[in-house]
Order: sequence, then C-alpha cells, then structure tokens
Amino acid sequence: MRVDAVFVGRAYLGGRFEEVAVAVEGDTIAAVTKPALAPRGEETVVLSPKQLLLPGMVDLHVHMREPGLEHKEDWRSGSMSAAKGGVTCVFDMPNNVPPANTCDRLREKVAKALSKSIVDFGLYAGCSDEPETLKPCADLFFGFKLYPEDLYSPRAQPTFKLAAELGKPVFVHAEDPSLFRDSPLHSEARPPEAEASAVELALELARSTGAWLHLTHVSTKPALEKILASKALGKVTFDVTPHHMLLSDSLYRSPLAKIAKVNPPLRSEEHRAAVYAAARSGAADALVTDHAPHALAEKLSENPPPGFPGLELALHLLLKEVLEGRLPPSAIDLYSSKPARLAGLRKGVIAPGFDADLVIVELAEWSVKGSELVSKAKYTPFEGWTMRTKTVATYVRGRCVYRDGEFGEGGARA
Ligand code: DOR
Ligand code: ZN
Repeated sequence: MRVDAVFVGRAYLGGRFEEVAVAVEGDTIAAVTKPALAPRGEETVVLSPKQLLLPGMVDLHVHMREPGLEHKEDWRSGSMSAAKGGVTCVFDMPNNVPPANTCDRLREKVAKALSKSIVDFGLYAGCSDEPETLKPCADLFFGFKLYPEDLYSPRAQPTFKLAAELGKPVFVHAEDPSLFRDSPLHSEARPPEAEASAVELALELARSTGAWLHLTHVSTKPALEKILASKALGKVTFDVTPHHMLLSDSLYRSPLAKIAKVNPPLRSEEHRAAVYAAARSGAADALVTDHAPHALAEKLSENPPPGFPGLELALHLLLKEVLEGRLPPSAIDLYSSKPARLAGLRKGVIAPGFDADLVIVELAEWSVKGSELVSKAKYTPFEGWTMRTKTVATYVRGRCVYRDGEFGEGGARA
C-alpha cells in the first residue's frame, strides 16, 4: 500500500502521547500504526524529538468580521491566524454588518469564506424577528447565536422553538443587561450576577422548548454551578475561554485595561479559578477563543469595543498549562475532539476515517508580542507571556496551509 503522506513521530492519541505513523490518503487519515509498520508515502514527514503531532483544533466561537468589518479582520487574515495557531476549523459568529440572520446573507458569507479562508469553517445564524425564514437554508448554519439583547427580546422564544425543531444548538452569550451598572471598572459595570441571571432565563427557555442550549464563554462560579446542575435535565453544554481561565480583573487596573476589555469581563480570582477547574475536570464541553479582533486605534480610544484576538495563542496557552503540569494532557480534547463531536464533525481526532487535520508543534520558549500576530489586531492581553510551544506546520484535510511562517493556499470546506 502506498499513501499520499505519512507522518512519523510522537502524536496525541486521546489522553496520551505515543510514537506512531499516521498515514494520510486524500482528505482523510487512512491508518495509525506503529512506526515500523507504516505504509510508504508519496511524502514522508518525520518529526524531530522536540516535535509533537496533534489533531487540528476546532474553535466553536470566532469573529472573522467579514462581511462588513474588514478593517478589523477578514476571512483571509482571520483564517491565517487560525492556521498559525494550529486551528483547522472555526465557527463564525453572525454579528456582521449587516447581521448574518437571513438566508441570502448566510449564502453570501459562505461564498466569501469559501473563496478566502484557508481553514474549514461553520457559521451561526443571527437572531431575527422571523426566524422561520431561515428554515429553507438550515444546512448553511450549525446553530443560532443569541446576544444579551436578543435573549431579553421577543425574538428569543421563537428562536429556541425553531432550534428545537431543527435539532440545532442555541449558543447564548448570557448577561442580563438590566443588571449592568455605571462603573469605570469594566468588571463592575457588568457584574457576575448578570451572568447567573441570564443563565437562568436561557435554561428556562431551553426547558420550555426542548432546545439544545449551549452557554458560551461562561465566566462565573454561580453560572457554572447552575449549568452543571442542569446538565442532567436536558441537552445543556457550555464552553470556557483561555482568557477567563488564565486572566483576572486585576488587568482592569493595569496599563492593559483597554486591551483586556471583553464581554463577559475578566473576573475576580474566585471566578477565574472556578472556570479553570471546569476545564481541568473535563466538565466543560469545549474551549473557545471568542477571537474578537478590533482595530488597535479602536481599542485605545476613549470607549474601547470589547474583545481581542485569540486564535494564534489558544492552543499554545493550553499546551503551556499541560507542559507545566497544571492541566492533564486530556485537556487538549477541549479544543479538538470535544468541540468536533458537538459539531458532528469527523475532526479533532488522530484516528482512521477522520479528516487529516494535523498540527506539528515544537517545544520552544518564546515571548508573546501582540505586534507579531498575523491577525489584523496586533495586540493581546497575554503580552509578554512565555510560551512553551510554537506551531511548525498545519494541515487541513491533508493540505499544508502553514509551515514555518509561510501560508499555503486555501480550499476551505463549509
Ligand atoms: O468581547 C466581546 N466581543 N463580546 C461580545 O459579545 C462580542 C464580541 C465582538 O464581536 O467584538
Ligand atoms: Zn463572541
């Protein structure tokens, strides 16, 4: 047997690392064998002892900003950021200008992303007054996304009902705007209570409609407790972000305050530790970046928009926690096999029959510099952090889209 490519080296095989050969045929992983039993490949990639082979990461929550806000990011720059971060599939949020909440706009976005993205992608549909009109194009989107203003509007209930009917998840950004306060400190302006209150409403809507509720970027302890207690009652899933795991609201009293502004806000140590624990225990269903790029000038303005880029750093932040012993290797599943399974994809796992989405990382110490990101947003609240790994190469369904600072051509799949 002769296959297209064979990767030989230390690979992550669900919870552990093992010396193997991974055979790739076309788009797909054909076999995983002991190195001595590897089939011959047209191309053979032998990893060095300092390199690891990982499945491509799957990010269920990003903002590529196109169409409408291309000065912040576009499908090319955003997907390059993903490829450099070892992320081979992204799910893009609908808060474009105009919002991606009609079939025509979703169709346009798919066409745009197909022509520009170098990684695979999925889309969310935004909330609208007529959610039913999305039925004919249900195959174009993975789930619905509700922002705080949608959750507290008459649009919420019909969206949950339609989601239940279509068997799609409703991704909810849970914050109750009625509990927002005037405060110069971002973490006080949008207090922890606002999240718990919105989680309760979302759980109630899920219970009454039977829809699959997914709470995204959960950031507080009480909200986590409510979600974990509800898991037995219906299909309820949730994700956490690297920033809510690793950063706290002390940044709002630092020179990085504007850069670190994000919704929901970074929280106090107690909440941060609870989010971290949800990742460590495996209770969380996924890790997401909420990659939310804005122009630097916007972030440094009087009233900066919330969010910052995350795609280039998330995997390496995760590996730092693993390599420094604070997370088990199985935490890698949070950003690969677990989100892939939620999305119903044969991705995020190095096993026969799965997409040949592969990432080679190398043990290397480097210091994070926002100015060096390939995202259009050249800043990060992780400025100056020491990383333990860097991406050497990224393959999407067998095609090399990134190697040593160079990007390959796309051919993304929706
Ligand atoms: O920090 C955030 N940024 N939170 C959101 O809910 C929106 C996002 C964005 O689109 O910039
Ligand atoms: Zn978001």
